[in-house]
Amino acid sequence: MNAKQAAAEAAVELVKTGMKLGLGTGSTAFYAIQKIAHRIQTERLEILAIATSHETATLAAELEIPLTTFGECNELDLTIDGADEIDERFTLIKGGGGALVREKIVASRSKQMAVIADDSKRCQHIGKHAVPIAVLPFGHESTGRKLAAYGKSIALRTRVDGTPFVSDDGMYIYDLQCDTGLDPLELERATRLVPGVVEIGIFNGLATVAFVGYDDGHVEKLLPHW
Ligand code: A5P
Repeated sequence: MNAKQAAAEAAVELVKTGMKLGLGTGSTAFYAIQKIAHRIQTERLEILAIATSHETATLAAELEIPLTTFGECNELDLTIDGADEIDERFTLIKGGGGALVREKIVASRSKQMAVIADDSKRCQHIGKHAVPIAVLPFGHESTGRKLAAYGKSIALRTRVDGTPFVSDDGMYIYDLQCDTGLDPLELERATRLVPGVVEIGIFNGLATVAFVGYDDGHVEKLLPHW
């Protein structure tokens, strides 16, 4: 079992029958979704879930995980999702897969958020990974130039053919490279004020527990005061 799978499977132990779950997006969340499906089949676990992306919704549907919507449910019990970086205060950078808008909505509507990651994601201060920022396509060049002032460099995320990457919600993504000295709260506050910005991939005060996996298969469970 690899480090991501070990972390994901440890987090899925938090899932109890009757829960409403948020399903994350990415290569680590993939293992959590597989494990949830396995528990539904083998333990008759009864849950409902909201997916954070089309990719996750498709996988969940293939695995026969029952899905719901925020039209039918107001609050989730637990979201399990990956991260690009997690620091000592449980501030996260997310959005490497481009799903940050839905990921933040889902995490913020959850009583608990379990972050699942291999140990390469753990750091003292976030900022090595670029901060993904979802922006409206309209005027994005100008929005990107405004955002550039908040970091060392900025890049519009593109597909392999060079055209802009488009998120599930029709947004473009700018990746803002800062450094580990960044003030995440101030960066989130300031960039949110730039017209055209829809969401910033800094998640603060949302994660309640983290499961960090290692190559030898062991998992560390961390609480926010580490
Ligand atoms: C998706 O938009 C992201 O927030 C992912 O959760 C994050 O990039 C971690 O992805 P991996 O689990 O694939 O590393």
